[in-house]
Amino acid sequence: MADRIAVGLIGCGFFAQNHLHAWTDLAPEGADLVAVCDIDAARAQAAAEKFAVPHWYTDAETMFRERGLGLVDIATQMRTHLPLVEMAIRHRVPAIVQKPFGRNIAEVRRMVDASKEAGVFLAVHENFRFQRPLLKIAEIIRTGAIGMPSWARIGFRTGYDVYTGQPYLAKEERFVLIDLGVHVLDVARVFMGEVAHLTAELQKRNPRVAGEDTATMLLRHASGAVSVVECTYESRRLPDSFPETLVEIEGDEGAIVSRIGSKIEVTSNGRMQVFDADPPVLPWAERPWHVAQESVLETCRHMVEALRAGRPAATSAEDNLRTFALVEAAYEASGKVRPEV
Ligand SMILES: NC(=O)c1ccc[n+]([C@@H]2O[C@H](COP(=O)([O-])OP(=O)(O)OC[C@H]3O[C@@H](n4cnc5c(N)ncnc54)[C@H](O)[C@@H]3O)[C@@H](O)[C@H]2O)c1
Repeated sequence: MADRIAVGLIGCGFFAQNHLHAWTDLAPEGADLVAVCDIDAARAQAAAEKFAVPHWYTDAETMFRERGLGLVDIATQMRTHLPLVEMAIRHRVPAIVQKPFGRNIAEVRRMVDASKEAGVFLAVHENFRFQRPLLKIAEIIRTGAIGMPSWARIGFRTGYDVYTGQPYLAKEERFVLIDLGVHVLDVARVFMGEVAHLTAELQKRNPRVAGEDTATMLLRHASGAVSVVECTYESRRLPDSFPETLVEIEGDEGAIVSRIGSKIEVTSNGRMQVFDADPPVLPWAERPWHVAQESVLETCRHMVEALRAGRPAATSAEDNLRTFALVEAAYEASGKVRPEV
């Protein structure tokens, strides 16, 4: 098939395992994972062997030179995103990069500008908005069932031990807001529209981590709607909702409330209906991660479709700059306003 896309994956660490499965699943749709790369040779080789990928590399530059890629998927940590994205652009290879897009807004702007100037497809693997329950909520809003959304609470609160799989998180000076807040703020944009202003309070409730582990934000959207957007890795409530984002949205004709287990209660014109939006547990997935895992497949699928159609991804570099700007604004706003007596 002439329109097959040769995909290369950079980074074969913790989360990339989901990308490896997703790209394998997308082979029937014309995406061929032809090469993987990790500076850790054992990881690159293990990924290539497990997923029957024909080539593995420890140097991304060599992979770009030798493989004639049609798409590169960058699943390394944020500190490497800028150099790897610039490398992809130099080679004129369309690129997807994991969140957080960069370490700060200056890096993000630089990548957005570079991709625009070169006319190279660049998108962020911002997968939360592709999670099945969140897609369902967006669809319900679009139908007008709750009228015009005017208030929301969007939260990701968990005590799940994220530090075992991702030990580096405990050392990040900018932690939960850039790691997790970036997802929930993106969801807030999708459901409630662009943000006119925001304020935030950050807390470090776990003394063993370097950065903030809890963020509570108050947003005013351009439409006039208000939302409370929260995230924490330090919640001790049971049942734990990991890895679900729970949402409450009120409009002038109804409301949407999501519950643990991807149950969505929709009230429209005084009648309440419950939808089950739990995604299938893919053969390679496991509970409770399955909600996130299926969204990785959907995100990669969306990227392939957008690339083929010659249009930007929904989570294009430019779109994600808007989400990233909210993260920066929340860091900036934290603790700024004091009561005057
Ligand atoms: N979207 C989500 O739901 C989600 C969930 C978890 C992690 N993530 C993101 O995924 C990214 C990776 O996180 P992780 O926990 O898998 O990290 P990780 O450290 O486990 O994996 C990163 C891998 O990249 C490799 N690497 C680093 N620099 C490289 C380079 N220049 N060339 C090739 N390989 C290189 C490392 O050796 C490592 O194997 C982060 O940006 C993280 O925020 C996203």
